[in-house]
Amino acid sequence: MRRAVYPGSFDPITNGHLSLVRRAALLFDEVLVAIADNSTKEPLFSPEERMEMTTAALAGIDNVRVIVFEGLLAKLVEQEKCCAIIRGLRAISDFEYEFQMALMNRKLSHQAETVFLMPSLNWVYLSSSIVKEVARHGGETKTLVPKSVYEKLQERFGSGKV
Ligand code: PNS
Repeated sequence: MRRAVYPGSFDPITNGHLSLVRRAALLFDEVLVAIADNSTKEPLFSPEERMEMTTAALAGIDNVRVIVFEGLLAKLVEQEKCCAIIRGLRAISDFEYEFQMALMNRKLSHQAETVFLMPSLNWVYLSSSIVKEVARHGGETKTLVPKSVYEKLQERFGSGKV
């Protein structure tokens, strides 16, 4: 069983994340989508809300499991017997942070080998932060996020186009 963990804040999950999960699910027997309950960030959505939206968005993919985790990712990798950490790279600007995190995770656990995947070209400009920014100001997000997220954003910020 080759299991990979795909960690992130997923606040909220976007079509870019979805593109990555689909790709990872073709490469590994199981993909564990791990939502960080990260006290250093101030997320818009609670871990429970993120879990609900993410689970609904990934319902059609058989070999995917969604969890919320606290603490070190390297520990989760060992607990869940993962052989890889999946992270997305969109642009060069992602590289420095990802490089640092990948090497630190490997220092913390030999098992924590990071594999980088690129999302579909359609979504290289997308991030959870930019989606929230657009939604907050009443912009259209329907084509950027899964239905479960779109509905939640509508609930939070209401409708209306810029
Ligand atoms: O989607 P994000 O916010 O870029 O994801 C960052 C995340 C959750 C993967 C990272 O903050 C993380 O792994 N947090 C868990 C704590 C940890 O292990 N930190 C050290 C990583 S070197």
